[in-house]
Amino acid sequence: MSPANVGYQAPSVSVSSSLPKRKVDSSVLIVPVVNGDDNSAPKVLTSPFLDTKAVVEIEAALESLDAKGGAEQVTRVVVPSLPVSSVLAVGLGKQRDEYDADVIRRAAGAAARSLNGAETALTTLSDTDLSATVEGLILGAYRFADFRSEKTAPKDAGLRTITALTSAKGQNDVAQRAADIATAVATARDLVNTPPSHLFPDEFAKRAKALGEAAGLQVEILDEKSLEKAGYGGIIGVGKGSSRPPRLVRLTHKGAKRKGKKVALVGKGITFDTGGISIKPAANMHHMTSDMGGAAAVVATVVLAAKQKLPIDVIATVPMAENMPSATAQRPGDVLTQYGGVTVEVLNTDAEGRLVLADAIVRAGEDQPDYLIETSTLTGAQTVALGARTPGVMGSDEFRDRVADLSQRVGENGWPMPLPEELKEDLKSTVADLANVSGSRYAGMLVAGTYLREFVPEGVQWAHIDIAGPAYNSGGPWGYTGKGGTGVPTRTMFAVLEDIAANG
Ligand code: BES
Ligand code: MN
Ligand code: ZN
Repeated sequence: MSPANVGYQAPSVSVSSSLPKRKVDSSVLIVPVVNGDDNSAPKVLTSPFLDTKAVVEIEAALESLDAKGGAEQVTRVVVPSLPVSSVLAVGLGKQRDEYDADVIRRAAGAAARSLNGAETALTTLSDTDLSATVEGLILGAYRFADFRSEKTAPKDAGLRTITALTSAKGQNDVAQRAADIATAVATARDLVNTPPSHLFPDEFAKRAKALGEAAGLQVEILDEKSLEKAGYGGIIGVGKGSSRPPRLVRLTHKGAKRKGKKVALVGKGITFDTGGISIKPAANMHHMTSDMGGAAAVVATVVLAAKQKLPIDVIATVPMAENMPSATAQRPGDVLTQYGGVTVEVLNTDAEGRLVLADAIVRAGEDQPDYLIETSTLTGAQTVALGARTPGVMGSDEFRDRVADLSQRVGENGWPMPLPEELKEDLKSTVADLANVSGSRYAGMLVAGTYLREFVPEGVQWAHIDIAGPAYNSGGPWGYTGKGGTGVPTRTMFAVLEDIAANG
């Protein structure tokens, strides 16, 4: 792999202040429409790029097709007077003075999901919110075809260029930043979507290294021998049931000027979670290919931080292991020693995420960061509490609220959750410092967060983002999210890094 070809290859994006003079082959013009009063035909959102004649033609075509213009509804029409092969109307719902960025992002995503092989997308949606449009288009057009032969390769994956029409001046950098963010999300999606047969700890580490080096990061990989020697008992314990040994990857972006902040990122990288000896039921076990979603997002985020030259230091610490049952696997009842010396009774080998994360958090703490953000597909209890689209955010009260707030602003919708003091009692062990699970069925997401809190150094502002549901879309496509890996919470973490760079 040459450096330029590492990571997801997004369509190229440019901005323009006018429609092309001549017809562009294999192109589509994406036009936002709103539904007026109930049952009236959709209206084209007023745009300096469409003259009255074009608007009348589009609206007449939509009316004849009985289109409604509801949010994310798409309708393809042919308008011969415009310099494109077809027009794709996408609904924004009811007309408003202003639209939420995520309404625009989802509309752009829904449009891109229905492009049917168009190679060039032009859009006037960008005049409403350029960043959201570009992100939505790239993410909606995302396809994962690495494991398809020509026979079944998706025929709708042809998007090569995006032209964002905007009447504002000097918007090139804005469009490029949005494209870089979407590319990072798509890179995280690619890693999640790569099956566990092909993405195991050593391979994941190599890909992280290639991505990191292409972005100018310092990369360090600890193999199983170094991990054993340095006392990473959690990573070794979880990884020892697999024939494919664990890794710990460290990726460093040095961007801080004088007084610049240092942020540690930690992501759970279980390349497949069978549960180990405490084995999971067969139904939907294949979803556990997403159990490295936190790690994928962390790798994508630190690479993005370097590409955007953020003036802070960002150090990613990423534990990678495969949780398998075998004659060499750890047993329920085993005791291991986490990196740094805390002993743990492993009552349930399926609560493996917290074991690899505790080692990584202690290691990350040695760098004395100001902030620590950790993210993981940690508990089924997260989906019970918040569902498949709402990450649970825990940690230091103030920083937790800041992370959740930024997450909502970027449309990833993290929600703050508490870590009640009394839950620590449930993690008492009769033989070791801690047990890895509580005896209670209650508040599983918070108990896992409570376990992690034990390993965060005093004085570090930290946030734990549980993405068990949100990392992987097992339902139908919606907005800019297709089936499979979602890349969540890459945009949340990047927004937090940008906020720290700007405000400390
Ligand atoms: N990787 C799972 C959590 C998970 C569940 C992620 C569903 C995505 C979808 C994690 O390792 C796990 O197995 N957690 C256990 C913890 C329990 C044993 C305390 C769980 O949630 O059941
Ligand atoms: Mn598990
Ligand atoms: Zn797991």
